[in-house]
Amino acid sequence: MKGLILSGGKGTRLYPITFTRAKQLVPVANKPVLFRVIEAIRDAGIDEIGIVIGDTGDEIRQAVGNGRRWDVTIRYIEQEAPLGLAHAVKISQDFLGDDRFVMFLGDNVIEGGISPLIRQFADSGWNSQVVLTEVDHPQQYGVAELDNERRIVRLVEKPRNPPSNLALVGIYMFDANIFQAVNSIKPSWRGELEITDAIQWLVDQGCQVHPYIHRGWWIDTGKHIDLLEANNRVLAELTHRTEGYVDRDSKLDHLVTVERGAEVINSVVRGPAIIGEDCRIINSYVGPFTSIYHDTVVEDSEIEHSIVLDHSRIVGIPSRIEDSIIGRDVEITFSPIKPKAYKMTLGDHSKVGLL
Ligand code: G1P
Repeated sequence: MKGLILSGGKGTRLYPITFTRAKQLVPVANKPVLFRVIEAIRDAGIDEIGIVIGDTGDEIRQAVGNGRRWDVTIRYIEQEAPLGLAHAVKISQDFLGDDRFVMFLGDNVIEGGISPLIRQFADSGWNSQVVLTEVDHPQQYGVAELDNERRIVRLVEKPRNPPSNLALVGIYMFDANIFQAVNSIKPSWRGELEITDAIQWLVDQGCQVHPYIHRGWWIDTGKHIDLLEANNRVLAELTHRTEGYVDRDSKLDHLVTVERGAEVINSVVRGPAIIGEDCRIINSYVGPFTSIYHDTVVEDSEIEHSIVLDHSRIVGIPSRIEDSIIGRDVEITFSPIKPKAYKMTLGDHSKVGLL
């Protein structure tokens, strides 16, 4: 089998974090979501992976490289515009050939591995397998209607009146029949070739499309709140370890990871939390569900339930920072200079919640 990861899109719902970086490269528990997807596919025994890239392609190529780091080979497939998931399949035909393949959206995080699922499909005679999960707002997704024998009858993209609460998770498995499907469908109202329509085409032709219902958590990291939620979930699942330096005056519990080269001085860190490589945490409190990416300094400050990216500085902040996503090279410092006022330089699309 082969793997196909979709890694295009502008990530506008995650601005300003994705203003300067691809959404798939935003770290969750200090690892880009895309890397987690590559690992999930590799762990299922697949070593040929194609990544469909768009506007942010250069950055993705640079971050992922040729795949040797994961013992896989990576081929990049350029999509000239975000014309839909089925369009991505269409332009990947040369790479995929006649092989069965798994397609994974590069900004999705799912509980546990997908290895058993992929193996099950590899060994089956099914033409396709789709992963479904129960959601609260099915209107926002592709939705499946099953009959009494749990066979797929109908699939609809973002229906106003959803026939069920079973959403299509961004993980799909296909055989070569899908190429005929993607070449037969027409663009939807949003101008995209929808994978949902392509799968409906398979169903209509009598192909066997097997629904797998996922019972664990699944998060599409499209929005800020989802990113924090994914971070919580992954931090809670991690096996934690201390590789950096923790001084005697600091208190850490067993759910804290301190990565290589990081220093924790006179601070309290309550897990689950992760302190990235070469960070410095000094006279501070880092609370549960916080991920601090590499080369960041937190000094004389308190932070909890947040994601901080690399090379940032949070120094001398008198009240606790919570529920926040802080980008790269950001400085949040205490300013004693009069007048006593908030002094901010915020980029486009920034959001600040003040007391
Ligand atoms: C896409 C699919 C949709 C699926 C969703 C999962 O939606 O079209 O069927 O439920 O991914 O994240 P989009 O992100 O393009 O709105």
